[in-house]
Parts: sequence; structure tokens; C-alpha cells
Amino acid sequence: MHPYSERRARLAERMVSGVAVIATAPERTRNRDTHYGYRYDSYFHYLTGFSEPESVLVLVAGDTPRSILFCREKNLEREIWDGWRHGPDAAREKFGFDEAHTIGELDAKLPELIADQPRLHFVIGEDPAWDQRMMSALNAVRAQVRAGRRAPSELLDIRQPLDDMRLIKDLHEQTLMRQAADISARAHRRAMLATRPGAMEYEIEAELLHEFRRSGSEAPAYGSIVAGGPNACVLHYVSNDAPLRDGDLLLIDAGCELHGYASDITRTWPVNGRFSGAQRDVYQLVLDAQTAAFSAVKPGARFIDYHDAAVRVLAQGMLDVGLLKGTLDEVMEKGDYRRHYMHRTGHWLGMDVHDAGEYRPRDGGPTEWRTLEPGMVLTVEPGCYIRPADDTPEAFWNIGIRIEDDVIVTADGCDIYTSAAPKTIADIESLMAEARA
Ligand code: GLY
Ligand code: MN
Ligand code: MN
Repeated sequence: MHPYSERRARLAERMVSGVAVIATAPERTRNRDTHYGYRYDSYFHYLTGFSEPESVLVLVAGDTPRSILFCREKNLEREIWDGWRHGPDAAREKFGFDEAHTIGELDAKLPELIADQPRLHFVIGEDPAWDQRMMSALNAVRAQVRAGRRAPSELLDIRQPLDDMRLIKDLHEQTLMRQAADISARAHRRAMLATRPGAMEYEIEAELLHEFRRSGSEAPAYGSIVAGGPNACVLHYVSNDAPLRDGDLLLIDAGCELHGYASDITRTWPVNGRFSGAQRDVYQLVLDAQTAAFSAVKPGARFIDYHDAAVRVLAQGMLDVGLLKGTLDEVMEKGDYRRHYMHRTGHWLGMDVHDAGEYRPRDGGPTEWRTLEPGMVLTVEPGCYIRPADDTPEAFWNIGIRIEDDVIVTADGCDIYTSAAPKTIADIESLMAEARA
């Protein structure tokens, strides 16, 4: 079966009964009459594979589930200006819907589709205009009460079952995510080879974008961070417009999106190709923290375990090199390590870079974390960020390091999707020496 039809069937099973109405994303204006590059809604695309704007999926659960697509009509004039459209007939055929209609028919058909159904499922509260549209459909059914029609009495957020489904990647998704990760790993290699003192951060960003696009990626999965020297200590640095200086590090957090799937890689390397003593110490520490974290990514472990594993190594290392004072227990207890490590060690990864899926199970207590299962994809991204301060040895000032890989939980541990991006000190230095030779 088509992966999308299979997902619709699984969702209908989880819904048990009722109707789900799921719209794709709107086109968004950038300025005056120019639009941002179009990106469909992840939930909609997960269930349809359909990439055109102005589309809505209606899924009717029950003994014989039905899926109905509403999409743009064929229109020669618009197609001459904006490009080819499927239109309902071709879309139904190609994507395996039971029915398809033009988007202009949605409001007239919705009351009929939801009448006498026990539940209406949709994305509640994200877009006031869409909420209003669903209420109008409900009220249109209520207006027919004397004709014996009943409106759904329960409204449910469709994201809950969908988030649970999206958390475990099926084989189709795993293949795409591996490809996206490969492209991004190549892009990081390319960026390493192009790095030299005097280059601008945006020149290196251009190398990443070149590799993404030439490999078929539609766009970066998020704004690329290309941060030289002190800029690496700004966690969400996006200006990418400073010159790279001899003796500084360069931190790049960048990943492509491929056919709707994100990759998310961070590597940090010396602008001149050789780590200094202090840079080397902190880099190896972050790498050791990542190794410890990988061992805690396995079925049955809690989501928080790999963060805890990374933090323990980082905190001990910060004590060892003189960035913190006290004992490991004190530093852990008081959270002093947060001065240099203030973010979590990872997140779910999928169609969205910070992907759908809850981190605590719905039926667990407030302190319980979700347990890892095979097929979950997540990032492992410890770091260490050291701003200038009187009590910090000067050799460490402005060192900002993060190492981030994408991994899938397997039957007995995890598999790293992004290992083709060089990571050990020896591998980075020898690749960069090759570029200069
Ligand atoms: N690039 C976003 C993140 O690493 O979470
Ligand atoms: Mn990340
Ligand atoms: Mn990242």
C-alpha cells in the first residue's frame, strides 16, 4: 500500500469514529506581492503526500473509512502563470483518495460530511480563521435539527493521535531521513574544506546551500547558524555576516530538508584547521559527552537519560579544566554547569526540525519521561559555551562548541544517520590539511 494510504488507514483506526478535517498550510506573503517559498503543513503532507496549497483532507473513520481531498481546480489561465496543478481527478487517481472535489466546494460539503457523526477532529486553536470555519460547519448542521440531523457533540484535537504516529518513523520516512542526513553531512564536509581565515561567514553558508540544493533538497530545514569565534556562544545566531578569524573556531548548525524531512547537524572546527590547546580540551570534552549520551539512547531508556548522561560528563570536564569549582555532586545539585551548557541535549526530529511528539507520556506522572522505542529519531547535541568572565581562564574565552548528530533508535541501541560529517579532532584536522595542501 502507498505509505500515505496506509497512514490514513492507521489514523482512521485510532480515531475509531467521526470525521477529521486537516488543512494544508497557507501561502505566506513576504512583502507586497512576493511570497515565501511554499511549504505544506507537515500533518497534511504526512497523510497525503500532496504538496499543493489550498488543499484539505477529510477523513471519515468507521467500518469503511473514506478519504476525501479538496484541492485547487484545473485552471488554464492560472496554470500558465503559476504552474501545473493536479486538479481533483488526477489527484484522486495518483494519491489514492476515495473522492476529490475542488476547494471551492468545501464549505458547502462539510456540513453534509460531519452531520450525524459523533466527533469532529481537527487542529484546534492554531488558526482562528480555521476554528471559525469548523464552527460554521457545525452550526450549519445544527440549523438542520428539525430535519433530524445531529451535529458532532465532541471536538477532538487530531494532533494527539497524529503526534504519536509521527514519533515512530515508518520505513518510507527512515529512507528519506537517511538521505537528508547524508546530504547535510556532505554539506558540512564541503563547508570544512572551504573554511579559511578572512572568509566571511556567509561565504561558508553559501557552500552549505550549494550542496543542499544540488542534491535535490528543497530548502534548509531551519535557518543555518554559521558562527565564527564569539558568535558561537549566541545559541540562535543567524546573521552569518562576520569575517572568520585565524585562531577562532567556527560552529555550523545546518541541515537540509528533503521531501518534507529535516536533518539537523552541528559541527565545530578551527578556522585555520588546527585546534589550539584549550579548544582541543573543550572539544574532546563535548565529544566524550556525546559518546556517553549515545550509550543512553536505546529502547526502554527514558528520553531524559541521554541528557543526564551528557551533563554528567560535561560537568566533570568543566571541573577538570577549571571552568567550575567544587565537587561533581555540588555542581550537579546546584546546576552550575548551566552557565556553560544551558540547553537540552536533543529533541525529536522528523518533518519538523523540533518534531511533533510529546516528551512525557499522557498517562505518566508529571516527572515521568517518555520511554524510547525503535523507530524514534532524535538529535544528540551536547555543547559548551564559554563567555569572557573574570573567573574564567582567558584561553577559554569565546569558545563555543556543539556537536550534533541525528540518530534512530534501533532494537538494541541507536544508529547514527549523520556520521559521514567528520567529527574527531584527527579527522577534522586531516581533512582541513588536505584542503590546504
Ligand atoms: N538547529 C536547531 C536545533 O539544533 O535544535
Ligand atoms: Mn537540534
Ligand atoms: Mn541543530
